[in-house]
Amino acid sequence: MFFIPTSLLATLATATQGAPANFWMPKQASTVAQSVDFTFFVITWICYFFFFAITAALVIFMIKYRRKSNDIIVRGPTHNIAIELTWTIVPMLLVIVIFVMGMRGYINLRQAPEGSYEVQVTGQKWAWTFQHPTYGATQVAELTVPVNTPVRLIMTSNDVLHSVWIPDFRVKMDVIPGRYTTLWFEATAVGDYNLNCAEYCGKDHSKMFATVRVIPKEDFEKTMVKLASEYEDMSVGELPAYAINRLYNRCQSCHTLDGSESTGPSFKGLWDRVKKGDINFTSGEKLSNLYGEGTTYEVPENYIRASILNPQGHIVQGYLGAMPSFQGQLKDKQITAIIEMFKHLNELTDAEGNITVNPDGTPRE
Ligand code: CUA
Repeated sequence: MFFIPTSLLATLATATQGAPANFWMPKQASTVAQSVDFTFFVITWICYFFFFAITAALVIFMIKYRRKSNDIIVRGPTHNIAIELTWTIVPMLLVIVIFVMGMRGYINLRQAPEGSYEVQVTGQKWAWTFQHPTYGATQVAELTVPVNTPVRLIMTSNDVLHSVWIPDFRVKMDVIPGRYTTLWFEATAVGDYNLNCAEYCGKDHSKMFATVRVIPKEDFEKTMVKLASEYEDMSVGELPAYAINRLYNRCQSCHTLDGSESTGPSFKGLWDRVKKGDINFTSGEKLSNLYGEGTTYEVPENYIRASILNPQGHIVQGYLGAMPSFQGQLKDKQITAIIEMFKHLNELTDAEGNITVNPDGTPRE
């Protein structure tokens, strides 16, 4: 910019790609981050310049042209071609500069490069699900992508408006029920990055986040193949550790592991209550009366299965029935894994509700 010393701009614009987090901005971790920051700082510095220039002129004029006595009458100027041209042309040039920079950035952000790796994203109160069509893998609250590879997200919502926002990548896009929106990024550094929901979507909006795991290109295929099939080869005994690590993410915004109340009942001790049928529904029915030959659920396992696939079927007293259906999102074996997780929750968590095992069943550090 013609009136801003370039060195000053460079320092504050974090003009080098991959700049670390500073007072103003989070880390730059995508190919577009640098240009987004640069545009932001150019506009910010134009604002600084005019704020101080106009305030200074105001103060100077107040002092210089103040009424010095009651009987001095002065006539102000009516016209000044030079000043009028200046205050028309200079702002016009500035907005042209801002427009060109903004438009170039916008076009780049809207068009994913040819051949980008595609991920289907679903937002649902209050979690993110990521599906990798290339590998048939599904992730919840976690998105694994390769470094230095353009990734295109095709996003939709199952209920209300949400918004995918990855601050370190400087990208954000609304996620809308009944239509698809897209967003693309190319991560430039291996690491974990926050993905937040940036559209107020109800009670647990603040818990609707996920982690973007950027991993080396050479590890990506192996990781995805493993993610896609790891539960298929597991015995029933191995499923609880898998479920608490890979599937519980999808439940955690509403169901705690430490017994504390949230949008839904805590999972702690849930299996004991379900087994005894010691649960009352808003319909006035009692769960224990729905067990046994020829009844709604027959065995407790069916009640859990039905609660996941058709949560509105029976609503537990004291809760609002906020849970969405997981029909089509979980394979039968994953539902079995969740049921097994309830049965073995004591072995998977400590007294505070912290998860104590890894997906392969080994103890967590
Ligand atoms: Cu989803 Cu806020």
